[in-house]
Amino acid sequence: IKIYVPIDVAALACGADEVVLAIQTEALKRGLPVEIVRNGSRGLLWLEPMVEVETPKGRVAYGPVEASDVKALFDDGFHEGKGKHKLHIGLIDQHPYLKNQQRLTFARCGITDPRSLEAYKALGGYKGLEKAIKLGPKDTVEEVFNSGLRGRGGAGFPTGIKWRTVAAAKADRKYVVINADEGDSGTFSDRMIMEGDPFVLIEGMTICGMAVGATYGYVYVRSEYPHAIKALNDCIAIARKAGLLGKKVMGSSYDFDMEVRMGAGAYVCGEETSLLESLEGKRGLVRAKPPLPALVGAFGKPTVINNVMSMASVPIILSEGGKYYADFGMGRSRGTMPVQLAGNLKYGGLVEIAFGCTLGSLVYDYGGGTASGRPERAVQVGGPLGAYLPTSLWETLFDYEEFAKIGAGVGHGGIVLFDDTVDMLKMARFAMEFCAIESCGKCTPCRIGSTRGAETFDKIRAGIDVEKNLALIGDLSETMRLGSLCALGGMTPFPVDSAMKYFPEDFRRGQKLQA
Ligand code: NAI
Ligand code: SF4
Repeated sequence: IKIYVPIDVAALACGADEVVLAIQTEALKRGLPVEIVRNGSRGLLWLEPMVEVETPKGRVAYGPVEASDVKALFDDGFHEGKGKHKLHIGLIDQHPYLKNQQRLTFARCGITDPRSLEAYKALGGYKGLEKAIKLGPKDTVEEVFNSGLRGRGGAGFPTGIKWRTVAAAKADRKYVVINADEGDSGTFSDRMIMEGDPFVLIEGMTICGMAVGATYGYVYVRSEYPHAIKALNDCIAIARKAGLLGKKVMGSSYDFDMEVRMGAGAYVCGEETSLLESLEGKRGLVRAKPPLPALVGAFGKPTVINNVMSMASVPIILSEGGKYYADFGMGRSRGTMPVQLAGNLKYGGLVEIAFGCTLGSLVYDYGGGTASGRPERAVQVGGPLGAYLPTSLWETLFDYEEFAKIGAGVGHGGIVLFDDTVDMLKMARFAMEFCAIESCGKCTPCRIGSTRGAETFDKIRAGIDVEKNLALIGDLSETMRLGSLCALGGMTPFPVDSAMKYFPEDFRRGQKLQA
């Protein structure tokens, strides 16, 4: 009997290890031969730990399972996939949350044991690298360009163009660096892939190294992700042993190896140039651009810096072809986006879907509305630097350009839902405070402006010269937007301005109190 219990940190936090122990103990008592596979998470987070049992019809899921449920589950015949128990979900492939998604990047996540190279290969793994080696560097870059893939870290810059720039640069050494400093609030897709399907990232980096002429790669992972770091390190060692990293990868003429570097907990180190500083062992201060990292990057050499999601999308682009990937999506937003639903939602989790669905369908059809049962009021899309969007804008299509039209960004795909109890003045102040705490301090509008911004919001809350102070925040926002060196100071005005624009009533309560 094959039983799957996720090893993803979301499942572990909800007692997955205890569930495994309970299953083993109960099976032993009953004399049932049980094989437990620790898979990644499928991303239906409200059901974690979600236990699956292999049956001739497919994998039958139960969740959220606690250790104390296990005896009753066995009594009910769960080891045969039977289902009268209240935790019985049914055939997991048929679950609407999963069935309606287009899982390309997450095709294997939650299905396989993340550390099993065999399982990875059995589901198409390393076909992308095989194809890339056959195509050669130039055509591999073109395949990525033709896929229309854009940077999934938030900026949406075309990955193919970035790779072309690095490929064309002349240097004795080039690097591939992965930004796994996933710091946006409500985001976890990078973590899920690194814990649930780390080989896909390793394969993507190897393809990239071969294509642009880089021989070494770094995955810069935030220190708060110890499980992801462990999974990556384990899989890098396995890949190296199997000849998939190191000298003459897969018997080709290309060399590529990599290592994991751990961040130290600064949000700004998700900005690519401060990430490079930190990677080089220095304080995470933002560098001025140009020169672009594509030309002068890690250790002064041409470097591809991609987000985990961008690079994890590369293997399928190579194995199935750029056109296959580009056939998903709309306009200039090609392919799929791993959207992460979080906050006050009934069904938080990972939804990989082609660009072009509405924001509302993500919140309602997948997220199921608020967990509190109260009316929805706002979503913040794209992390702490993302705009707050009222329900009236939820018909907006999930697409880089459509979001830009309403003064928002899709960012790293995080959607955080708030109900009608949210205080938008508090949220706007938080954006300023967050910027003040996380600022690297290099430029004045961000370092000083954010502190002044938080103070000014305190005056507004107290009802002191509200209209004058709101105008002052407007000026401050403009200065930060235009005068900051990087996105931290430059994008803090997004949540601030959108909160003031769409929820003006929340900023005038102090005024009424004074009156
Ligand atoms: P950017 O627009 O300056 O650059 C995007 C990327 O394209 C960079 O890697 C840059 O080096 C590269 N690039 C630009 N022109 C190029 C060229 N001609 N050739 C080759 N490469 C070129 O944006 P930036 O400042 O890197 O990122 C800002 C974004 O980061 C924001 O949109 C925000 O959504 C996102 N963000 C994401 C976070 C996360 O946790 N994932 C946290 C904070 C911000
Ligand atoms: Fe540093 Fe802020 Fe300036 Fe960015 S905007 S370089 S975080 S001070």
